[in-house]
Amino acid sequence: MGFEGKTAVVTGGARGIGFEVALKLAKGGATVVLIDVLEDVMTQAAAKLSAAGAKQVFTYKVDVTDEARVEKVLDEVAEKTGSLDILVNNAGITRDDLLLRMEAAMWDLVMAVNLKGTFLMTKHAARHMLRKRYGRIVNLSSVSGLVGNAGQANYSASKAGVVGFTRTVARELAKKGITCNAVAPGFIKTDMTDVLPEKAKEMALAAIPMARMGTAEEVASVIVFLASDEAAYVTGHVVPVDGGMAP
Ligand code: NAI
Repeated sequence: MGFEGKTAVVTGGARGIGFEVALKLAKGGATVVLIDVLEDVMTQAAAKLSAAGAKQVFTYKVDVTDEARVEKVLDEVAEKTGSLDILVNNAGITRDDLLLRMEAAMWDLVMAVNLKGTFLMTKHAARHMLRKRYGRIVNLSSVSGLVGNAGQANYSASKAGVVGFTRTVARELAKKGITCNAVAPGFIKTDMTDVLPEKAKEMALAAIPMARMGTAEEVASVIVFLASDEAAYVTGHVVPVDGGMAP
């Protein structure tokens, strides 16, 4: 898939799924903009992208919940590169616990990063996409947001929110050449899942028909398709990438 001449912004692009997305877009010829809170990891990621042949890579330390910073950085990106064509809202966090032990602060933080961050990035990127009447927005939901997951009331609610947000943005922007879709990964091997207790990993594996975890690259392949010209007639959808987990 060719991404020559396109500018792609990937939040949470320093590692995991976001990094694999950035790598595929860069290999396809896109100018890639990484946004993350982990500055050192992001600098290393940018070096890896350049070593893999990326034409142009920019990095910005941005917390996606900070609206003023999000707006300023996206304006700067559009000015520097001439366009903002692709946005992958991948930054996300977990703060797991059972309902009765979940503190309101854990709820607020997860909703702020996963849902409000997705809203803020989309709102301020869409202004630039509208000018060119072209855009591809891909959001990260989760199987947890589709079917629920014990211990993840906050995370599941945020990822279900991403589904409603995605479908609404798709309808609002459909006539303007901008698509908005989501992927719903299942249980993917990244830093986010590496920290889970062994028992939780065993239970998750038992629920996967393919009986293995997915890789960040397998999720990135679907995201990159949705971000491509080839996916022009796909909007408002949620694609599970989960080894058969979701019903
Ligand atoms: P990860 O933890 O490896 O990467 C997430 C990245 O987001 C990190 O680089 C982190 O620094 C960045 N980030 C966190 N908060 C941020 C903020 N406020 N502003 C900017 N950047 C921020 O996670 P992973 O596994 O690569 O997940 C990526 C996305 O996929 C997340 O939205 C996650 O919820 C979703 N997902 C992951 C699954 C998995 O099994 N790994 C399953 C379903 C969904």
